[in-house]
Amino acid sequence: MKQRDRDQKVHWEATAYDQTMRFVSDYGLDLFKWLNPQQGESIVDFGCGTGDLASQIAGSGAEVLGVDISPEMVQRAREKYPLLRFECADGMSWTPTQTYDAVFSNAALHWMKDAEAAVETMTKCLRKGGRLVVEFGGYRNIQSIIDAMQATLENSGRMDAFVNPWYFPKVGEYAAILERHGMEVSHAMLFDRPTAQEKGEKGMLNWLHMFGTAMVPKATKAETEEWFNEVVMRLKSTQYQEGSWIADYRRIRMYALKQQ
Ligand code: BEZ
Repeated sequence: MKQRDRDQKVHWEATAYDQTMRFVSDYGLDLFKWLNPQQGESIVDFGCGTGDLASQIAGSGAEVLGVDISPEMVQRAREKYPLLRFECADGMSWTPTQTYDAVFSNAALHWMKDAEAAVETMTKCLRKGGRLVVEFGGYRNIQSIIDAMQATLENSGRMDAFVNPWYFPKVGEYAAILERHGMEVSHAMLFDRPTAQEKGEKGMLNWLHMFGTAMVPKATKAETEEWFNEVVMRLKSTQYQEGSWIADYRRIRMYALKQQ
């Protein structure tokens, strides 16, 4: 895989993220049930963001290490949860120094476009028999937003500015990667999860400012603003319902064990 395809959004507005994207960790609570952490277990939260789910896991008596590529996210996680351990590292190249009972990851793996490398890291983290519990954007996730962004750029003759920063695989594709790395996949699903955004009418613009800038990383502020306003207009008839913006999220969820 080329370096260009490995580039990942590194810098985040961590405070704004906590204020407007609470739903990310709220939805993660269902995945937490799949993890079912036990007292005394050691668990990695892979792509931990600002640490809310790591804290939830720690609440069950497990030892948690949160890992995230973003220094801003890790700094905020450390401020919010000073008793927990967080490390700033790229999930596609991090070398863990020990093995763990489980790896948990919510809404992070779609940012790691070199999936082989991310899976290699996660499996290195696991002891034999250890479990992997992950959820992230699946095949055709936020397709309406991507389509609207592309149509907007085509309309301005600026398709050259477009980058697809995400990897949204089908179940079979990701399961095959896990299996190649010695994992036995016992549960795998892909499902629609339309996701309401906070802040009423501003919801989609907030989403675009938080995440969508990764689709046009070289654009000026003025270009970004103009294009995002057009994207919002294009999406309004389908994604704005009863005063709330709905992002067409599709989740892929997997449970796998490292083979003995
Ligand atoms: C997601 O969680 O599916 C997602 C979040 C931000 C950008 C793209 C996808």
